[in-house]
Amino acid sequence: MMPSSTMKRAIVLSLLTGLPVEGQFPVSTSITSANEIFDGFVSFSIEFSSFPDFAGNNSHPNTFSDNLLENIRHLTGTKPYIRVGGNTQDYALYNASLPYALNGTFNPKRSLDYPTTIYIGPSYFESYNTWKDVKFSHGFNLGLGANTSEGWQTLLDTVPLACKALGGGKFYLWGYGNEPDLFSTAAQGPVRPPSWNESTYVWQWQNGTRTIHELVQQHCPDLAYESRYGFMAPSHGGVGNRLKAHISWASGLNNDSNVKLYSTHK
Ligand SMILES: *[C@@H]1O[C@H](CO)[C@@H](O)[C@H](O)[C@H]1NC(C)=O
Ligand SMILES: *[C@@H]1O[C@H](CO)[C@@H](O)[C@H](O)[C@H]1NC(C)=O
Ligand SMILES: *[C@@H]1O[C@H](CO)[C@@H](O)[C@H](O)[C@H]1NC(C)=O
Ligand SMILES: *[C@@H]1O[C@H](CO)[C@@H](O)[C@H](O)[C@H]1NC(C)=O
Ligand SMILES: *[C@@H]1O[C@H](CO)[C@@H](O)[C@H](O)[C@H]1NC(C)=O
Ligand SMILES: *[C@@H]1O[C@H](CO)[C@@H](O)[C@H](O)[C@H]1NC(C)=O
Ligand SMILES: *[C@@H]1O[C@H](CO)[C@@H](O)[C@H](O)[C@H]1NC(C)=O
Repeated sequence: MMPSSTMKRAIVLSLLTGLPVEGQFPVSTSITSANEIFDGFVSFSIEFSSFPDFAGNNSHPNTFSDNLLENIRHLTGTKPYIRVGGNTQDYALYNASLPYALNGTFNPKRSLDYPTTIYIGPSYFESYNTWKDVKFSHGFNLGLGANTSEGWQTLLDTVPLACKALGGGKFYLWGYGNEPDLFSTAAQGPVRPPSWNESTYVWQWQNGTRTIHELVQQHCPDLAYESRYGFMAPSHGGVGNRLKAHISWASGLNNDSNVKLYSTHK
């Protein structure tokens, strides 16, 4: 039996109960047995800029990666879930004329690990077609998305493409912003002023996620139902950074009840 998403949420939270928390954030649960584990327990997060390489595209699907994921399915019963996101989701801008998936430019002063100037084209979304029976999380750009007009336009342009690519049972959750707790201090170059705090984050989160919801309703109504629609958040990089998750929560992060999975890194 496939556990419901509510159950998955409950387990992720229960893993965290050993940690001190300030404030209480009730989450409903339908868990019935202590031995149930959530499907996709072995899952992967792939850096946004590397996804076309890992997955390939319609004409050149990456069958090597698919075979590795199939091997895990044989061991665990489910194909791993794939989160497409990370630091580079917050650099990615959309260029409708780009004839290939991704144009990434490295700046060694910012990062040697990945490009920090990124354009994606329409064919980026072909990479969501190449692995059978995988559920995906797609990360939208909050870093530039709520900070520049080009970034905001990218959100408007890519929500329809992403939701269409993730129809037919491929959708898991959306992301909006990776490690926003580090936006004003990032080693790769801050994308927010030092005064940026939990209140402004929540304001930008609500503005962006409400727009995402409207666009999904308009272009992919099947993915807009409350039971299916949702985000993983706040995807913080740690607990000692400038933004604190419990303050964002208390400031209204989940006022729209759209956070389906509490996510944090490390
Ligand atoms: C968008 O892609 C087209 C076609 O490759 C290219 O000519 C143009 O310079 C790109 N625009 C940006 C902003 O990268
Ligand atoms: C598909 O992938 C191949 C191999 O990487 C690449 O040469 C081609 O440009 C890609 N097609 C599109 C439309 O992005
Ligand atoms: C790729 O991006 C770089 C840096 O923005 C730009 O100079 C170049 O024109 C872009 N190439 C295409 C084909 O869009
Ligand atoms: C949401 O943010 C965008 C980009 O910053 C802005 O253009 C838009 O007006 C904002 N929406 C509201 C309701 O303020
Ligand atoms: C965008 O981020 C830059 C860099 O931190 C900052 O200087 C600018 O004020 C920000 N703009 C907005 C609208 O938040
Ligand atoms: C964020 O900064 C604004 C402006 O200084 C302030 O009004 C607000 O209370 C701050 N929010 C938090 C959670 O500290
Ligand atoms: C969140 O909801 C609370 C309770 O309804 C309300 O007082 C607060 O103003 C809301 N905050 C935001 C940022 O929406």
